[in-house]
Amino acid sequence: MQGLMYLCLEKEDKPQGNYTHPHPKKNIMHDLDKQINQRLEDLAKKENLRHLSLPYPTLGKWIVVNEEKRLNLSGNDYLGLAERDEFSTLHPNYSSPSGSTSSRLLLGNYEEAALFEEEIAKALEHPAALLFNSGYHLNTGILPALAHLEGVKVYADRMVHASIIDGIRLSRLPFTRFRHNDLEHLTELLKEDEGKYRISIIAVESLYSMDGDEADLEALVALKKKYPSLVIYCDEAHAIGTHGANGYGLAEELGVLADIDILVGTFGKALNSMGAYAAISTSLREYLINMARPLIFSTMLPPAVIAWSRYTFALLPRLGEERARLRQVSRYLRSSLQEKGYSCPGVAQILPLIIGENGACGLLAERLQKGGFEVKPIRYPTVALGTARLRLSLTAAITPADLDPMLQMLESLR
Ligand SMILES: Cc1ncc(COP(=O)(O)O)c(C=O)c1O
Repeated sequence: MQGLMYLCLEKEDKPQGNYTHPHPKKNIMHDLDKQINQRLEDLAKKENLRHLSLPYPTLGKWIVVNEEKRLNLSGNDYLGLAERDEFSTLHPNYSSPSGSTSSRLLLGNYEEAALFEEEIAKALEHPAALLFNSGYHLNTGILPALAHLEGVKVYADRMVHASIIDGIRLSRLPFTRFRHNDLEHLTELLKEDEGKYRISIIAVESLYSMDGDEADLEALVALKKKYPSLVIYCDEAHAIGTHGANGYGLAEELGVLADIDILVGTFGKALNSMGAYAAISTSLREYLINMARPLIFSTMLPPAVIAWSRYTFALLPRLGEERARLRQVSRYLRSSLQEKGYSCPGVAQILPLIIGENGACGLLAERLQKGGFEVKPIRYPTVALGTARLRLSLTAAITPADLDPMLQMLESLR
């Protein structure tokens, strides 16, 4: 707020020409505060006001909140990599995480990034790969870049992540949303548009972060034969690391890596780092280097961050045991909750425990937190009205014995 006020005053201090502001300074700030406070009150009334939590000291699968130890059921460190500490031994030269100090097109490029891209492209069976600073940068960068091409329309699954929606909005491309995981609905929409578009981008996630269910990537790939204008844009944010024999995602598990035209993912979840990748064609890579604004106009990630991502990505094929444990513990929790009569759909390490109303969901989350379980409520409007849920997110470090006390607690709170 201070910064904003300073900017306003500075502008006011330097009027251009004979310009005089129509409102007195005081009223501008007053109205700004008034409107902001009104918005905050509205959010609070709807039980949707978000707060930043204090930084928690983390101890692998545990976190400490107000000096109380809680089992962390809200993170995305799906493979438990936060507990590994050999990186500093392998990379003593990166002990100080200095920045790259420039965007990649200026001076922010370095060999580590180029080598990493080659490794990603090879692993994900694509001709090329391109790094972005985050999944958000990537999704808000690629789609608007594609908007400069002719005859493009986007068809997005209704449950795709906010960053994909923001990318579509920024692109201003014509778009439509199909019912979640409903390829019949998608096919109807494609039929209606037949002959109208040269490029039909189908935007999906492989594993959906709110429902814990998976896209039918094989059926989508089969649809490409019928509709040659299709371009599949698949975000593997929650499946990279956890799915596939080598951990290269659901596309690997289903044997369709090379068939996904734009295969993207983040290093921010199972890879326990920061940044994102797109596995693509060489021409699209070159095009994006020229057209993707978040890549062109933002400082490149520090080399140490890329080195850490490269290190955890290289570990993936050797983490089969962690993936198996993650599947087992996820199955255990899902079936235990379902046996107790809870609605807990989905298939993977993300378990949505559907509660219904925002208030009830928030209250249950608070009680579980006090009981030693760090769970977060996900409420409307993030999810559909009446489907507020606890999003239980498991990692390979969590065991069934860690979860039993929570199951007992849920029983006693009914
Ligand atoms: C499907 C999906 N895509 C992209 C992102 C954003 O990735 P990042 O955290 O690297 O910005 C997320 C993060 O929650 C996500 O769930």
